[in-house]
This record gives sequence, structure tokens and C-alpha cells, in this order.
Amino acid sequence: MPGRQLIMSFPVTATSHALPEYRARGGYGALAKTLGQLKPQDVVKEVTASGLQGRGGAAFAVGRKWQVVQYDDGQPHYLIANADEGEPGTFKDRWILENNPHVLLESMLIASYALNVRNCFVYIRGEFDLPYRRLADAVEEAYAAGLFGRNVLGSGFSCDIVVYRGAGAYVAGEASGLISSLEGKKGYPRNRPPRLTVKGLYQRPTVVNNVESLSNIAWIINNGADAFKAVGTPKSPGTRLFSVSGHINRPGVYEVELGYPWMKFLDEDCGGVPQGRAIKCVVPGGVSSKVLTGADITNLKLSHEDLWDAGSTLGSGGMIVIAEGTCMVALLQVLMRFYHHESCGQCTPCRHGTGWLHRILDRIVAGDGRADDIERLYYISKFNDGTTICGLGDAAGYACSGILDKFRDEFEYCIEHKRSKFGGNLECLRSS
Ligand SMILES: Cc1cc2nc3c(=O)[nH]c(=O)nc-3n(C[C@H](O)[C@H](O)[C@H](O)COP(=O)(O)O)c2cc1C
Repeated sequence: MPGRQLIMSFPVTATSHALPEYRARGGYGALAKTLGQLKPQDVVKEVTASGLQGRGGAAFAVGRKWQVVQYDDGQPHYLIANADEGEPGTFKDRWILENNPHVLLESMLIASYALNVRNCFVYIRGEFDLPYRRLADAVEEAYAAGLFGRNVLGSGFSCDIVVYRGAGAYVAGEASGLISSLEGKKGYPRNRPPRLTVKGLYQRPTVVNNVESLSNIAWIINNGADAFKAVGTPKSPGTRLFSVSGHINRPGVYEVELGYPWMKFLDEDCGGVPQGRAIKCVVPGGVSSKVLTGADITNLKLSHEDLWDAGSTLGSGGMIVIAEGTCMVALLQVLMRFYHHESCGQCTPCRHGTGWLHRILDRIVAGDGRADDIERLYYISKFNDGTTICGLGDAAGYACSGILDKFRDEFEYCIEHKRSKFGGNLECLRSS
């Protein structure tokens, strides 16, 4: 794992997910410090000062979200860890749940104390098996050790936790869709305002944070906001977990100090592209972030500011490396099939738009593309943007226009010649 100081990672052993080893690594020290020495508002202040940004996709400041919750408003408050991890290419929360579930639980206890939460939840994607079992075991261990329930560690603070398994819908990872699902309804996203921090679960103030975002809290309380900001760059403090997949010699989950040189990371830490092929492009942070070409990323650093300047985002940290020789038409077809399948159908532009994008890609791949199909794909992508309740429709449009912007010639070739530039049929993606 590259970087000079690491926050989330440690050498994994067969039992490092269990409570005794977590304690041996100093685990639950931050909770003891919080309950013994800090007022709830001190915790919120420290997290705000750290500049920690959400790791679920939008990079929203965690402290700013927390500040909206009024500690003493007399209402129940809720905290939810978003462990849905449905963004294609993203599997870093899974790493935390499998290898270090107690860091999430400890951090959630600290956050619950800060936000006056008596009941917190982990919403975990339905397909997760080992991560679920590891988390459920960790919850049991924590209850047995008096870390959850009434009067945690004799402090007077009480907190319960529920682990709720979703049914495997991408849209249920969107914070308001997740809340609908948790309430026992279809996982439909809700219109905002009101914000979830004002009216969320059961119409009460609710904070939804990503698993990795929350898991940083214990470290921040132990080491302080200044130590956190000393890692990374001024606009991108801390580290991030990147899940790296695709055409790469050493796929996996890596903790990287933000600001780390991107090509050094791929070439040296991840072992480069198999057979020494050149990098055609990289999906930086889940397929909803716009692709960047190998040339685009040559001098970029892994920071929010570098990615924003380049017209993309670090998103959910799901990095997919795509080597030269890969057909982007076939790749986009797969992505549009995904968005179409996952659209919940509430909003007309998304329900029809994702289907339309998918069907146009299908016909281009089948050799029936029309001369104006590229303009039509652009039109639909733009039409979706900002016209829907949640970001799913927008994301489909970004993914589509992002690939068209960089690789338009491949689509033109395909429509004109009725076959991929990279071989007789468009299934070449699979064999590349
Ligand atoms: C379609 C869709 C799917 C999403 N899926 C996830 C997910 O699986 N995990 C996640 O943490 N955030 C997901 N998000 C983002 C959440 O809505 C929310 O912004 C996030 O959980 C907030 O946590 P953070 O501020 O700590 O990043 C998704 C958003 C959209 C639009």
C-alpha cells in the first residue's frame, strides 16, 4: 500500500476482523476517549476541522452534514452507514467490512454520541455474504463487550445498532432510496428538500454516510484533525481506499494518500497493465465518473482537485483500468444495460432515457447503427441531467457522454462499417 502515512489499512491476518485483534491494534480507544473526555459538540468540531469528505461518491464534507443535525431538538435522530456498495468497480467498503468491521462500529458509536443518536443502522447490500457475516459477528462481539446497548462502558450513553440487508438494487444505495428501503418500502429515492438531515428515516433527522467515510472517524478522534489534514493535499485531506480492477496486474484494494501520483500508483503499486499494453483509459471512481484517457492521467495526482480540473471525479474510488485494444462501443453497451436495468422507473427521463440509450447501443453493436445515433446519444444524456429525483439518470448520461467525448471515432467507425474497429464482432471486450 503506497503513501507515507496510512489510516485505514493494516496487515490482514486470518483473525484481524475479530474484537481481540482490533483491541490489540488500539481499537475502541477512540470511543473511550470520546465518552470520557469529549462533549458531543467537540466531536462534531474535530470532524469538521479534519475536512473529511464523503467517500461514497459526492465528496460532501462530513462535518458540514453533521452540523445540520440539532443536538437538542427533542426528536429521535438516526445514523445510517451506507454499505450498499452498488457502484460497478467499487469494492472497498467490502474490504473494511470483511477485514476491519470494528473500525466501522467504533466510528458509528462515536458519531452516534456526537449526533445524539440512540439507534443506528448499517444498510448492507443483499449480495454481500462474508462481509455480512463478519459484520454480524462483530456486532455480537461488541454487544457482549458492553460496547452497544444501555450505558456503553458505564458512560451513561446508550446506543443500539441494526444491520439491515438490502435486496440488491443499485438505486437503494442512493441515500433517500436506502431510507425508503429501510422503512420497508420499495427503494425509491425521495425528492429533496427536505434534506435527510432534517427529515430522513421515519421523518426524523438522519445522517447517511458511506462506510469508509465513517470508518475514518475513530482515527480522527485518536490523532486529531491536524494529523488528518497533514496527510493528503489541502483540498483532499486524508487517504482513500481505491478498488482497482480491469486490465491491471495486481487488482485489489489499496489505501493511497490523496495527492499520490496516479501513474506511479498504477505502474509501480498495481504492477502495470498485463503484457505491457498501454492504458487506453481509466474509469476513476465507479462507472458514474467520466473516463479519462491514458494521456489525460499521465501527470495527474489522485486528488479531488486534479480530477475535477480534468473533468471527472474520484467518485466512489472504484478504479477500472482499460487497456488499448478494448472496444469502447461494447463497453458502453454493457454500462447502459446496467443503468437501464437499475433505473427504478419513478422519473420519466431516467426510465425512458436509460432504456433509449441502451437500445441505441444495442443496435449499434448489432450493426444497425444510424448516422445520427451519436447525436441522439448525446441529446438523451444531456436531457437526463438534473431532471430526475436522484443521480442515477445523470450518472448514465455522464458515463455515456464521457465515453463519446473521448472515443467518438470508434462509434463512427462502428456505425459506418457495421463492426468494431477492434475485430469482426463487438464481443472483443471479453477477450481483451
Ligand atoms: C444511484 C446511486 C447509488 C448510490 N450508491 C451508493 C452506495 O452504494 N454507497 C454509498 O456510500 N453511496 C452511494 N450513493 C451516494 C449516496 O446517495 C450518499 O451520497 C452517500 O451514501 C453519502 O455518504 P458520504 O457523504 O459519506 O459519501 C449513491 C448515489 C446514487 C445516486
